[in-house]
Amino acid sequence: MMRIGLVGCGNIGADICIALQRGGIPAEIAALVDLDPERAALVKRSFQLAAEIVSLDEAAERADFLIECAGSAAAPVVAEKAIETGTDCLIMSVGGLMAHPEILEKAAAANVQVRIPSGALCGLDGIRAAMEAGLHQVTLTTRKPPKGLTGAPYLVEQGIDVLALTEPTVVFEGNALEAVKAFPANVNVAAALSLAGIGPKATRVRVIADPRATENSHEVTAEGAFGRLQTTTVNLPSPRNAKSSYLASLSAVAELRAAAEAFASRKRAAQ
Ligand SMILES: NC(=O)c1ccc[n+]([C@@H]2O[C@H](COP(=O)([O-])OP(=O)(O)OC[C@H]3O[C@@H](n4cnc5c(N)ncnc54)[C@H](O)[C@@H]3O)[C@@H](O)[C@H]2O)c1
Repeated sequence: MMRIGLVGCGNIGADICIALQRGGIPAEIAALVDLDPERAALVKRSFQLAAEIVSLDEAAERADFLIECAGSAAAPVVAEKAIETGTDCLIMSVGGLMAHPEILEKAAAANVQVRIPSGALCGLDGIRAAMEAGLHQVTLTTRKPPKGLTGAPYLVEQGIDVLALTEPTVVFEGNALEAVKAFPANVNVAAALSLAGIGPKATRVRVIADPRATENSHEVTAEGAFGRLQTTTVNLPSPRNAKSSYLASLSAVAELRAAAEAFASRKRAAQ
């Protein structure tokens, strides 16, 4: 069994525990980390885990695989710890890596795998494939009900009250680097898209607050030597967090399954 250090015991953390409880993934939670020990204790109790509630340092010692599902500030810290201890990891708050492009290079040099999930977006396989011949335009348009955007730093700074909108309104246009700063809790997909494609400065992002929308949707358009691509992903909110898409949790589980299966096959080969 691959031992997991779970950093962040919120909605995605709970969805990971639910998937592990269902069985079929050769992994178990060995350590829980959270800024709020009550959240970690709740997860430990709810899923009757034998895991200890520990610091990140201790989790990295106990685990074969670290999962960050805590927030953009935690992402570079967890990735650095993974590199330092030679532990593969999954980073859900991909936006948190945008300001630290050196981390992925350091991980590759240290032979540590940093898994980046597709999150609430489909089509990254096509973007990666198209990059083999080059892309000259990639745009993400994110459309959300206003309540899914409230509190974003950019809206607060600009004094934009999305709850007062009566028509679909473009509230942000910029590149992916600017987008992850403006909407740190909302646009991890922009970060994942830019890492798969032409990078954070060249990837364009539009955010639409749509009072008529009941679901979060992401449209990607791209053009390159291969032709043109357009994908739309319509996401239902997570059953436990209206600000997060269920597909994001499912992408974490899919990455975890792949990591655990690769770990098991490495173990078998070493025997
Ligand atoms: N890649 C994607 O598409 C995608 C989609 C949704 C969310 N996310 C990312 O995943 C993160 C987790 O999502 P969630 O819905 O589970 O959030 P959540 O708020 O339900 O849970 C986050 C948990 O992490 C804890 N935490 C926060 N900062 C921490 C830190 N520095 N160290 C340890 N624990 C910390 C909080 O106390 C909380 O218990 C989000 O912050 C977001 O950045 C990514």
